[in-house]
Amino acid sequence: MIEKINELKSDIQNASISNENELEEFRLEFLSRNGRVQKMFGLMGSVPNEKKAEVGKAMNEVKNLAQATFDGAKNSLHKSEEKTFSATQDISLPVQPTYTGSFHPLTRALHQIKEIFLRLGFNIADGPELEDDFHNFTALNFPPDHPARDMQDTFFVRKSDDPNQQDHVLRTHTSPVQIRLMKDKEPPIRSIMPGRVYRNEAVTAKSYFQFNQVEGLYVDESVTMGELIETLVMFAKLMYGSDVKYRVRPSYFPFTEPSIEMDVWWDNDKGGQWLEILGAGMVDPNVLEAVDVDSEKYTGFAFGMGVDRIALLRYGIDDIRTLYENDIRFLRQFTS
Ligand code: DAH
Repeated sequence: MIEKINELKSDIQNASISNENELEEFRLEFLSRNGRVQKMFGLMGSVPNEKKAEVGKAMNEVKNLAQATFDGAKNSLHKSEEKTFSATQDISLPVQPTYTGSFHPLTRALHQIKEIFLRLGFNIADGPELEDDFHNFTALNFPPDHPARDMQDTFFVRKSDDPNQQDHVLRTHTSPVQIRLMKDKEPPIRSIMPGRVYRNEAVTAKSYFQFNQVEGLYVDESVTMGELIETLVMFAKLMYGSDVKYRVRPSYFPFTEPSIEMDVWWDNDKGGQWLEILGAGMVDPNVLEAVDVDSEKYTGFAFGMGVDRIALLRYGIDDIRTLYENDIRFLRQFTS
Protein backbone atom coordinates (compact mmCIF):
# COMPACT_ATOMS: atom_id res chain seq x y z
CA MET A 1 0.00 0.00 0.00
CA ILE A 2 2.71 2.43 1.06
CA GLU A 3 4.47 1.64 -2.22
CA LYS A 4 1.41 2.66 -4.20
CA ILE A 5 1.17 5.89 -2.29
CA ASN A 6 4.83 6.66 -3.00
CA GLU A 7 4.33 5.96 -6.67
CA LEU A 8 1.41 8.40 -6.75
CA LYS A 9 3.52 10.92 -4.91
CA SER A 10 6.36 10.75 -7.41
CA ASP A 11 3.93 10.99 -10.33
CA ILE A 12 2.60 14.20 -8.84
CA GLN A 13 6.10 15.53 -8.32
CA ASN A 14 7.09 14.72 -11.88
CA ALA A 15 4.02 16.12 -13.55
CA SER A 16 4.87 19.03 -15.84
CA ILE A 17 2.31 21.79 -16.08
CA SER A 18 3.21 24.54 -18.54
CA ASN A 19 -0.16 25.59 -19.94
CA GLU A 20 -3.87 25.62 -19.16
CA ASN A 21 -4.46 22.25 -20.87
CA GLU A 22 -1.85 20.50 -18.80
CA LEU A 23 -3.24 22.14 -15.71
CA GLU A 24 -6.66 20.71 -16.48
CA GLU A 25 -5.16 17.28 -17.25
CA PHE A 26 -3.42 17.35 -13.90
CA ARG A 27 -6.66 18.22 -12.15
CA LEU A 28 -8.53 15.38 -13.87
CA GLU A 29 -5.81 12.82 -13.24
CA PHE A 30 -5.17 13.59 -9.59
CA LEU A 31 -7.77 15.84 -7.99
CA SER A 32 -11.12 15.12 -9.64
CA ARG A 33 -13.76 12.89 -8.07
CA ASN A 34 -12.54 9.96 -10.14
CA GLY A 35 -8.93 10.99 -9.86
CA ARG A 36 -6.11 8.93 -8.44
CA VAL A 37 -6.05 10.61 -5.05
CA GLN A 38 -9.70 9.94 -4.44
CA LYS A 39 -9.28 6.35 -5.65
CA MET A 40 -6.44 5.85 -3.25
CA PHE A 41 -8.64 6.92 -0.36
CA GLY A 42 -11.14 4.27 -1.59
CA LEU A 43 -8.56 1.59 -0.85
CA MET A 44 -8.53 2.51 2.82
CA GLY A 45 -11.07 -0.20 3.55
CA SER A 46 -8.56 -2.92 2.69
CA VAL A 47 -5.87 -1.55 5.00
CA PRO A 48 -5.47 -3.60 8.22
CA ASN A 49 -6.61 -1.67 11.27
CA GLU A 50 -3.19 -1.40 12.86
CA LYS A 51 -1.82 0.21 9.70
CA LYS A 52 -4.71 2.62 9.16
CA ALA A 53 -3.15 5.55 11.06
CA GLU A 54 0.17 5.36 9.22
CA VAL A 55 -1.40 4.89 5.77
CA GLY A 56 -4.01 7.61 6.36
CA LYS A 57 -1.30 10.08 7.25
CA ALA A 58 0.70 9.30 4.09
CA MET A 59 -2.46 9.58 1.97
CA ASN A 60 -3.28 12.98 3.40
CA GLU A 61 0.23 14.18 2.66
CA VAL A 62 -0.09 13.12 -0.96
CA LYS A 63 -3.47 14.79 -1.24
CA ASN A 64 -2.06 18.05 0.11
CA LEU A 65 0.90 17.78 -2.24
CA ALA A 66 -1.41 17.38 -5.24
CA GLN A 67 -3.50 20.40 -4.21
CA ALA A 68 -0.45 22.56 -3.56
CA THR A 69 1.09 21.58 -6.91
CA PHE A 70 -2.14 22.48 -8.66
CA ASP A 71 -2.50 25.86 -6.89
CA GLY A 72 1.13 26.81 -7.47
CA ALA A 73 1.00 25.95 -11.17
CA LYS A 74 -2.25 27.84 -11.62
CA ASN A 75 -0.80 30.94 -9.98
CA SER A 76 2.34 31.07 -12.01
CA LEU A 77 0.40 30.42 -15.24
CA HIS A 78 -1.77 33.42 -14.54
CA LYS A 79 1.17 35.62 -13.80
CA SER A 80 2.92 34.78 -17.04
CA GLU A 81 -0.39 35.32 -18.80
CA GLU A 82 -0.36 38.93 -17.61
CA LYS A 83 3.17 39.34 -18.90
CA THR A 84 2.29 37.95 -22.28
CA PHE A 85 -0.64 40.30 -22.43
CA SER A 86 1.45 43.44 -21.87
CA ALA A 87 4.06 42.25 -24.35
CA THR A 88 1.37 42.02 -27.01
CA GLN A 89 0.02 45.53 -26.44
CA ASP A 90 0.22 47.85 -29.41
CA ILE A 91 3.57 49.49 -28.85
CA SER A 92 2.95 51.99 -31.62
CA LEU A 93 0.22 53.69 -29.58
CA PRO A 94 1.17 57.19 -28.36
CA VAL A 95 2.33 57.07 -24.73
CA GLN A 96 0.40 58.74 -21.93
CA PRO A 97 2.26 61.96 -21.15
CA THR A 98 4.08 61.83 -17.82
CA TYR A 99 5.03 65.15 -16.27
CA THR A 100 8.56 65.56 -15.07
CA GLY A 101 9.27 68.17 -12.45
CA SER A 102 10.24 71.66 -13.51
CA PHE A 103 11.93 74.67 -12.01
CA HIS A 104 9.66 77.46 -10.83
CA PRO A 105 10.08 80.54 -13.06
CA LEU A 106 11.40 82.51 -10.07
CA THR A 107 14.00 79.83 -9.37
CA ARG A 108 15.07 79.91 -13.00
CA ALA A 109 15.43 83.66 -13.11
CA LEU A 110 17.36 83.55 -9.84
CA HIS A 111 19.73 80.86 -11.15
CA GLN A 112 20.50 83.04 -14.13
CA ILE A 113 21.16 86.14 -12.05
CA LYS A 114 23.42 84.19 -9.71
CA GLU A 115 25.34 82.66 -12.58
CA ILE A 116 26.02 86.06 -14.12
CA PHE A 117 27.31 87.62 -10.92
CA LEU A 118 29.38 84.57 -10.00
CA ARG A 119 31.09 85.03 -13.39
CA LEU A 120 31.70 88.68 -12.54
CA GLY A 121 33.50 87.69 -9.33
CA PHE A 122 30.72 88.15 -6.75
CA ASN A 123 29.97 85.58 -4.05
CA ILE A 124 26.58 84.87 -2.49
CA ALA A 125 25.51 86.00 0.99
CA ASP A 126 22.36 85.58 3.03
CA GLY A 127 20.46 87.31 5.85
CA PRO A 128 17.31 86.91 7.94
CA GLU A 129 13.79 87.80 6.76
CA LEU A 130 12.84 89.08 10.20
CA GLU A 131 14.90 92.22 10.71
CA ASP A 132 15.19 94.98 13.26
CA ASP A 133 14.69 98.66 12.58
CA PHE A 134 18.42 99.33 12.73
CA HIS A 135 19.37 96.99 9.85
CA ASN A 136 16.29 97.57 7.72
CA PHE A 137 16.17 101.38 8.06
CA THR A 138 18.38 103.29 10.46
CA ALA A 139 21.80 102.01 9.36
CA LEU A 140 20.68 102.53 5.75
CA ASN A 141 20.34 106.25 6.45
CA PHE A 142 16.53 106.41 6.49
CA PRO A 143 15.58 109.52 8.47
CA PRO A 144 13.33 108.71 11.47
CA ASP A 145 10.29 110.20 9.73
CA HIS A 146 10.88 108.62 6.32
CA PRO A 147 7.58 107.57 4.71
CA ALA A 148 8.90 104.06 3.96
CA ARG A 149 8.65 103.31 7.66
CA ASP A 150 4.97 104.05 7.49
CA MET A 151 2.53 101.29 8.38
CA GLN A 152 1.40 101.17 4.76
CA ASP A 153 4.66 99.76 3.50
CA THR A 154 6.07 97.79 6.36
CA PHE A 155 4.86 94.75 8.25
CA PHE A 156 5.84 95.48 11.81
CA VAL A 157 6.31 92.53 14.13
CA ARG A 158 5.80 93.14 17.81
CA LYS A 159 7.73 91.04 20.23
CA SER A 160 5.34 91.76 23.09
CA ASP A 161 1.87 93.15 23.69
CA ASP A 162 3.31 96.59 24.27
CA PRO A 163 1.98 98.65 21.31
CA ASN A 164 4.96 100.97 21.50
CA GLN A 165 7.43 98.21 20.94
CA GLN A 166 7.74 97.96 17.18
CA ASP A 167 11.32 97.04 16.81
CA HIS A 168 11.04 94.15 14.39
CA VAL A 169 9.91 94.17 10.77
CA LEU A 170 9.59 91.70 7.94
CA ARG A 171 12.41 93.07 5.84
CA THR A 172 11.10 95.41 3.16
CA HIS A 173 14.20 94.96 0.98
CA THR A 174 17.41 92.94 0.88
CA SER A 175 19.54 96.02 1.65
CA PRO A 176 19.82 95.14 5.39
CA VAL A 177 22.03 92.21 4.36
CA GLN A 178 24.56 94.81 3.15
CA ILE A 179 24.66 96.16 6.68
CA ARG A 180 25.19 92.69 8.15
CA LEU A 181 27.99 91.94 5.69
CA MET A 182 29.84 95.17 6.36
CA LYS A 183 29.53 94.65 10.11
CA ASP A 184 30.84 91.08 9.85
CA LYS A 185 33.63 91.47 7.38
CA GLU A 186 36.46 93.78 6.42
CA PRO A 187 36.50 95.05 2.83
CA PRO A 188 37.02 94.00 0.11
CA ILE A 189 33.42 92.78 -0.08
CA ARG A 190 31.90 91.70 -3.36
CA SER A 191 28.63 89.84 -2.82
CA ILE A 192 25.13 89.40 -4.07
CA MET A 193 22.33 88.71 -1.59
CA PRO A 194 19.20 87.09 -2.94
CA GLY A 195 16.11 86.82 -0.77
CA ARG A 196 12.45 87.27 -0.12
CA VAL A 197 11.08 90.63 1.02
CA TYR A 198 7.69 91.81 2.28
CA ARG A 199 5.60 94.92 1.88
CA ASN A 200 2.18 95.79 3.13
CA GLU A 201 0.70 96.39 -0.30
CA ALA A 202 -2.64 95.67 -1.88
CA VAL A 203 -2.57 92.43 -3.84
CA THR A 204 -3.11 93.04 -7.55
CA ALA A 205 -1.87 91.57 -10.82
CA LYS A 206 1.13 93.92 -10.53
CA SER A 207 1.92 93.94 -6.83
CA TYR A 208 2.06 91.39 -4.06
CA PHE A 209 2.83 91.46 -0.35
CA GLN A 210 5.97 89.39 -0.87
CA PHE A 211 8.49 89.29 -3.65
CA ASN A 212 12.15 88.54 -4.30
CA GLN A 213 15.15 90.78 -4.66
CA VAL A 214 18.83 90.40 -5.34
CA GLU A 215 21.04 92.92 -3.61
CA GLY A 216 24.61 93.60 -4.71
CA LEU A 217 27.46 95.22 -2.82
CA TYR A 218 31.06 95.97 -3.75
CA VAL A 219 33.20 97.78 -1.18
CA ASP A 220 36.93 98.32 -1.57
CA GLU A 221 39.49 101.08 -1.88
CA SER A 222 38.57 103.36 -4.79
CA VAL A 223 35.46 101.66 -6.18
CA THR A 224 33.94 104.05 -8.73
CA MET A 225 30.63 104.95 -10.31
CA GLY A 226 32.18 103.95 -13.66
CA GLU A 227 32.66 100.42 -12.37
CA LEU A 228 29.08 100.34 -11.13
CA ILE A 229 27.67 101.29 -14.50
CA GLU A 230 29.97 98.91 -16.32
CA THR A 231 28.87 96.06 -14.04
CA LEU A 232 25.19 96.85 -14.56
CA VAL A 233 25.55 97.11 -18.34
CA MET A 234 27.39 93.79 -18.36
CA PHE A 235 24.55 92.27 -16.33
CA ALA A 236 21.87 93.63 -18.67
CA LYS A 237 23.67 92.23 -21.71
CA LEU A 238 24.20 88.80 -20.19
CA MET A 239 20.63 88.66 -18.92
CA TYR A 240 18.71 90.08 -21.87
CA GLY A 241 21.11 89.59 -24.79
CA SER A 242 23.96 91.74 -26.12
CA ASP A 243 21.59 93.86 -28.21
CA VAL A 244 19.51 94.91 -25.17
CA LYS A 245 18.41 98.56 -25.16
CA TYR A 246 19.03 100.14 -21.76
CA ARG A 247 19.23 103.51 -20.08
CA VAL A 248 20.53 104.81 -16.76
CA ARG A 249 18.68 107.64 -14.95
CA PRO A 250 19.47 109.62 -11.85
CA SER A 251 17.32 108.66 -8.86
CA TYR A 252 17.21 108.85 -5.08
CA PHE A 253 17.71 106.32 -2.29
CA PRO A 254 18.61 107.21 1.30
CA PHE A 255 21.49 104.72 1.32
CA THR A 256 23.27 105.74 -1.90
CA GLU A 257 24.70 109.01 -3.15
CA PRO A 258 24.54 109.53 -6.08
CA SER A 259 21.71 107.13 -6.93
CA ILE A 260 20.60 105.78 -10.28
CA GLU A 261 18.00 103.52 -11.82
CA MET A 262 18.36 101.32 -14.86
CA ASP A 263 15.61 100.61 -17.40
CA VAL A 264 15.53 98.14 -20.25
CA TRP A 265 13.39 98.43 -23.33
CA TRP A 266 10.70 95.79 -23.46
CA ASP A 267 9.15 95.12 -26.85
CA ASN A 268 5.48 94.14 -26.74
CA ASP A 269 2.40 94.20 -28.96
CA LYS A 270 1.59 97.74 -27.84
CA GLY A 271 4.85 99.08 -29.30
CA GLY A 272 7.11 98.50 -26.30
CA GLN A 273 8.04 100.43 -23.16
CA TRP A 274 10.87 101.18 -20.71
CA LEU A 275 10.85 98.98 -17.64
CA GLU A 276 12.80 99.75 -14.52
CA ILE A 277 14.90 96.71 -13.55
CA LEU A 278 17.04 97.97 -10.69
CA GLY A 279 18.10 100.73 -8.36
CA ALA A 280 21.75 101.40 -7.56
CA GLY A 281 24.32 103.93 -6.47
CA MET A 282 27.47 104.69 -4.54
CA VAL A 283 27.13 103.63 -0.90
CA ASP A 284 26.39 106.77 1.14
CA PRO A 285 29.29 107.59 3.51
CA ASN A 286 26.71 107.75 6.35
CA VAL A 287 25.99 104.06 5.75
CA LEU A 288 29.68 103.17 5.84
CA GLU A 289 30.09 105.07 9.09
CA ALA A 290 27.04 103.40 10.65
CA VAL A 291 28.83 100.06 10.35
CA ASP A 292 32.29 101.36 11.21
CA VAL A 293 33.78 101.21 7.74
CA ASP A 294 36.23 104.05 7.19
CA SER A 295 34.57 106.21 4.53
CA GLU A 296 37.82 108.08 3.89
CA LYS A 297 39.57 104.87 2.92
CA TYR A 298 36.78 102.87 1.30
CA THR A 299 34.07 103.49 -1.26
CA GLY A 300 31.46 101.12 -2.57
CA PHE A 301 28.61 100.60 -4.93
CA ALA A 302 25.33 98.82 -4.30
CA PHE A 303 22.36 97.76 -6.34
CA GLY A 304 19.03 96.04 -5.81
CA MET A 305 16.82 94.34 -8.36
CA GLY A 306 13.45 92.63 -8.36
CA VAL A 307 13.54 88.99 -9.41
CA ASP A 308 9.78 88.72 -9.94
CA ARG A 309 9.70 91.37 -12.61
CA ILE A 310 12.57 89.69 -14.44
CA ALA A 311 10.71 86.36 -14.34
CA LEU A 312 7.45 87.96 -15.50
CA LEU A 313 9.23 89.63 -18.39
CA ARG A 314 11.20 86.61 -19.46
CA TYR A 315 8.29 84.20 -19.43
CA GLY A 316 5.58 86.57 -20.61
CA ILE A 317 3.55 86.20 -17.40
CA ASP A 318 1.11 89.04 -16.82
CA ASP A 319 -0.03 88.38 -13.25
CA ILE A 320 2.47 88.29 -10.36
CA ARG A 321 0.03 86.35 -8.18
CA THR A 322 0.49 83.23 -10.31
CA LEU A 323 4.08 83.06 -9.07
CA TYR A 324 2.90 82.37 -5.53
CA GLU A 325 -0.26 80.32 -5.93
CA ASN A 326 1.45 77.02 -6.74
CA ASP A 327 -1.19 76.06 -9.27
CA ILE A 328 0.20 72.92 -10.87
CA ARG A 329 -1.35 73.83 -14.25
CA PHE A 330 0.64 77.05 -14.26
CA LEU A 331 3.89 75.40 -13.16
CA ARG A 332 3.65 72.65 -15.76
CA GLN A 333 3.96 75.20 -18.51
CA PHE A 334 7.59 75.63 -17.53
CA THR A 335 8.62 72.00 -17.95
CA SER A 336 11.65 72.04 -20.18
N1 DAH B 1 16.43 98.62 -1.61
C1 DAH B 1 15.88 99.23 -2.78
C2 DAH B 1 14.42 98.80 -2.91
O1 DAH B 1 13.97 98.00 -2.20
C3 DAH B 1 16.61 98.80 -4.00
C4 DAH B 1 17.99 99.35 -4.04
C5 DAH B 1 18.26 100.56 -4.62
C6 DAH B 1 19.03 98.65 -3.46
C7 DAH B 1 19.52 101.07 -4.67
C8 DAH B 1 20.32 99.18 -3.48
C9 DAH B 1 20.54 100.39 -4.10
O2 DAH B 1 21.36 98.54 -2.95
O3 DAH B 1 21.81 100.88 -4.13
O4 DAH B 1 13.72 99.26 -3.76
